[in-house]
Amino acid sequence: MSESPADILLAPTPEGWTESAAGRWRELLNDHAQCEKKAASTALALMFTYPEDRRLATLLSRLAREELRHFEQVQKLMTLLGVPFERQRPGRYASGLRGRLRTADPGRKLDLLLTGALIEARSCERFRLLAPRLPAEVAGFYEQLARSEARHFEEYLELAREAAPSEWQARLQELAGHEAQLATAPDDQLRFHSGPPSAPVPVGPVE
Ligand SMILES: [Fe+2]
Ligand SMILES: [Fe+2]
Repeated sequence: MSESPADILLAPTPEGWTESAAGRWRELLNDHAQCEKKAASTALALMFTYPEDRRLATLLSRLAREELRHFEQVQKLMTLLGVPFERQRPGRYASGLRGRLRTADPGRKLDLLLTGALIEARSCERFRLLAPRLPAEVAGFYEQLARSEARHFEEYLELAREAAPSEWQARLQELAGHEAQLATAPDDQLRFHSGPPSAPVPVGPVE
């Protein structure tokens, strides 16, 4: 498999997000850590909801372990950099996507898998955008994460194809449209998966 995130994302991340995130990357680590934990918990929830699907269990068990490892790496980086833990209001992205999921199976399973693919693809795209703008030690870490998330995106997409061979493409287009809207429309919060900040970002030292 050799899809790139750009193959399923209907709109690229706006420059406004990348510029703000590159300037405020330290504070974004808080949200980044939450995203890694959430990615593990989403994979585990799918394993509990569809226990009869052994292929799903095999792929997502490994994926969940990798996400927890990412969480540990981000947390370590925060400790090294002295970034304090901060409880934050969740962004609109995850709840916006969740609101589009069908509530009954088999549609719900397909929607969960496609949403997983879209989130992983967006993460991969954003790690790639940020890496060249960050200090070397963080850039290397973000490049490594981009490679993992690219694999996760392919795995979710593969599971979606297998779950609904005749429906996945049409449904992906619909969900990808909503995802693109959430990731590109001006946002009142800066988060890893937010849109570009709607208010001007205070200029601070870019480190
Ligand atoms: Fe991850
Ligand atoms: Fe991932």
